[in-house]
Amino acid sequence: MNLIFLGPPGAGKGTQARLLERRFGLRQISTGDILRKHREEGTALGKQAEGYMKSGELVPDDVIVAMIESELAGDHSRGFIMDGFPRTVSQAQAFDALLARQAWPLDAVVLFAADKQTLLARLSARWSNPRNGRTYNALTNPPKVAGIDDQDGGPLIQREDDRAQTVAKRLDVYQSSTTPLIEYYRKAGKLLEVDALAPVDTVAHDLVHALHFEHAH
Ligand code: AP5
Repeated sequence: MNLIFLGPPGAGKGTQARLLERRFGLRQISTGDILRKHREEGTALGKQAEGYMKSGELVPDDVIVAMIESELAGDHSRGFIMDGFPRTVSQAQAFDALLARQAWPLDAVVLFAADKQTLLARLSARWSNPRNGRTYNALTNPPKVAGIDDQDGGPLIQREDDRAQTVAKRLDVYQSSTTPLIEYYRKAGKLLEVDALAPVDTVAHDLVHALHFEHAH
């Protein structure tokens, strides 16, 4: 199954993508995680992306599309979950062309619906493991020991773009650049919506049912 997860910052796309990856063997492709890895490794792409990410702007479409093409060039053995891509109509058109060239079907686009207040609260309480992208939340899903990952025992960090001012910018950018994709995929008959305000387990349950995983796997 090939999926796109669409939704504002903090809606829970990454949390749910990691759950589906673990349960059903799908491959999570998070453009945010890939870009952060490039930044950490100091690659040319990482340096190019840094300024945009720090200020909450989108990295240019051509850079992102090239990155996705190279990411998908390797592993064809399992379905994917695009987490945070596409984010503009131009990225969606380039992705449609790539899928058509490769004859890969797109099964569904899941829209994670949440209100602004919840998103702000979630992001200001998010703690991430920079080594694998796993996230916790100080309010709703805290680690056993504050600041330490339950599984690998290493330190958790707060993302620099989760500061209030940058989050406000990211939400504006989502509104202006990414929400046109809702109509784009609705017209294509691909859009499914989940209530992202529900607890993590409820969202996961709703997703499995909406995507008919119980039949597909
Ligand atoms: P990216 O890393 O993709 O950030 P984002 O889309 O803003 O999404 P987030 O990771 O912030 O949120 P999420 O929906 O995954 O929520 P999460 O599961 O962590 O992008 C970062 C930057 O990279 C962009 O600003 C841009 O510069 C660049 N970029 C990336 N992709 C790009 C592209 N395609 N084009 C151009 N530029 C691009 O959950 C959030 C918190 O809530 C966590 O603490 C979690 O524990 C908690 N939580 C999750 N679900 C629930 C729930 N149901 N109930 C309670 N708490 C919950």
